[in-house]
Amino acid sequence: MCGIVGGISERNVVPIILEGLSRLEYRGYDSVGIAVLNESCELVRERCVNRVKTLDLQCKTNKFKGLIGIGHTRWATHGGVSESNAHPHFSHDCISVVHNGIIENYTQKRDELIKQGYVFLSETDTEVIVHLIHFYYIKTKNLLEAVKLTIKELSGAYAIGIMCKDYPDQLICVSLGAPLVLGVGINEMYFASDISAVLPVTQKVVYLEDGDVAVVSLTGYVVYDRHNNIIDRKINISELSANQAELGHYRHFMQKEIFEQPQAIADTLQYLGNTFSAESFGENADSIFNAIDGIQIIACGTSYNAGLVASYWLESIAGIQCNVHIASEYRYRKIIPNKNNLIINISQSGETADTLACIKHVHELGMLNTLSICNVPESSLVRLSKLHILTRAGIEIGVASTKAFTTQLVVLLYLAYTLAKVKGKLNALAEKSAIEEIRKLPQLVVDAFKIEPELVKIAQELKYKEHALFIGRNSLYPIATEGALKIKEVSYIHAESYAAGELKHGPLSLIDNNMPVVFLMPQNLLLDKVKSNLQEILARQGTVYLFTDSNDEILGKCHSVIKLATSNISEYLLPIIYTIPLQLLAYHTAIAKGTDVDKPRNLAKSVTVE
Ligand code: M6R
Repeated sequence: MCGIVGGISERNVVPIILEGLSRLEYRGYDSVGIAVLNESCELVRERCVNRVKTLDLQCKTNKFKGLIGIGHTRWATHGGVSESNAHPHFSHDCISVVHNGIIENYTQKRDELIKQGYVFLSETDTEVIVHLIHFYYIKTKNLLEAVKLTIKELSGAYAIGIMCKDYPDQLICVSLGAPLVLGVGINEMYFASDISAVLPVTQKVVYLEDGDVAVVSLTGYVVYDRHNNIIDRKINISELSANQAELGHYRHFMQKEIFEQPQAIADTLQYLGNTFSAESFGENADSIFNAIDGIQIIACGTSYNAGLVASYWLESIAGIQCNVHIASEYRYRKIIPNKNNLIINISQSGETADTLACIKHVHELGMLNTLSICNVPESSLVRLSKLHILTRAGIEIGVASTKAFTTQLVVLLYLAYTLAKVKGKLNALAEKSAIEEIRKLPQLVVDAFKIEPELVKIAQELKYKEHALFIGRNSLYPIATEGALKIKEVSYIHAESYAAGELKHGPLSLIDNNMPVVFLMPQNLLLDKVKSNLQEILARQGTVYLFTDSNDEILGKCHSVIKLATSNISEYLLPIIYTIPLQLLAYHTAIAKGTDVDKPRNLAKSVTVE
């Protein structure tokens, strides 16, 4: 989704803003732009429908520089992908704005402004903001007042950066429903949509809260809260460092992140510790866990799939009833509030708009036992939740989530055992053996990598296919769903997942010798039942790619058999291990098809709009 960077310094801010924008590339975008006040105090800009690298060259060629500026990566929502729609937008060459989010009442505001004589040069909702600020600026002769009056009239969720030619010594930014951080340097200040963009210059960051308006200058910042009071937003020292986002010897971030999983899982396990402890989830977690009588999990995409796997574990290990919801559905359905439910929000980024809206919604409904599982310690979600626990995956850049997913599963498994312990369903011996089992995970993932060459071959077949089915049962059904999502995302093959037992209720009609079927069949998870489902596919000449640890004679009837070394491990580890080959299959199919693996078309890493 769109990304914003702005800065004011005693040095040229253009390379710093461009570096910040390149660090926001992972969020997904289709055009990019930057504006500065030049030596003559005029607003000037460079924009292009291309990558940040191209904009960088453009800036160098045109000797574009300034001590104060704002930049933007745009992911088109209102209006097509064009230079005229790219930000920053100007009003009367006096005010310039970059914007992330959506202005819901922009049509009405646009009509009002046109009546006032404003001329619109783009199709964006953003241009409404810049003209409205200008409208109030002419009236009040005060930029801050003009911004405050403008945001009173806007509805939607947004983050905005504002620069004015009459104020060469300050920038203003606003955060409402879309995140913004301030980066506090030495005699320089920045703001950005996420922390990675400011890390090359500073690790000192300030998180703006909903409704905050910040004025930043060379020497510092002043923040006004939603009630227009000056508020002291503290400086935090980030744990992240600038070079965490580098590719090293890998070809793609997705590839790097798949192979980082043993380390990411080991780091997450180390952070969780050697016993199942409620304390790991925050203060009073023990009494909260004790009191709960049910669980609602809320998430989107891959994080939702992790929630689906966890629902099997939470019910069978901890004996607690669990429902899993897609965040964009949950936020608009009628909820019957139950204050004794634990509400778990899962999110890699902690900035997904729908997931954030849900946590706010459940708090409003009086359901205060919220627990977030997140990969970004300083994210909005972590800050909003009563309890939280982190996945220690490290920064994830590839749009297709990989290591965040498997570490989410590790944390969720740990949670299931912790709840079992709190509820008196796990004795010391069982705890010890579960911990020993979970500790095998990093090595099991390393072992799973060994089948990569076979997956490269299968990818060569799949690349010619338009459709594929992914089948699993029990806790491997959501893994089939995750496998289908991965292949859709990065290789653009239409893939659907089904629970194996559901095939005969409709999807079996899709099976013929042209339909690739990725089938997951571990021997210690309902093998006999799953085998019957496999027979149904084979009887109809489906092209089966069987992922299994079994030696059953049915293997001989499959098109390809990919053997995993999982026959002796707990059924609870299977979803994590079976994820690995499906990630690799998606990656290699994407390579075989030549897609943009790390930035698949139409997608964004951080989905900060509804
Ligand atoms: O940051 P989140 O986990 O909240 O993101 C949710 C989804 O947008 C995300 O998992 C998405 O489905 C991934 N691109 C899948 O690979």
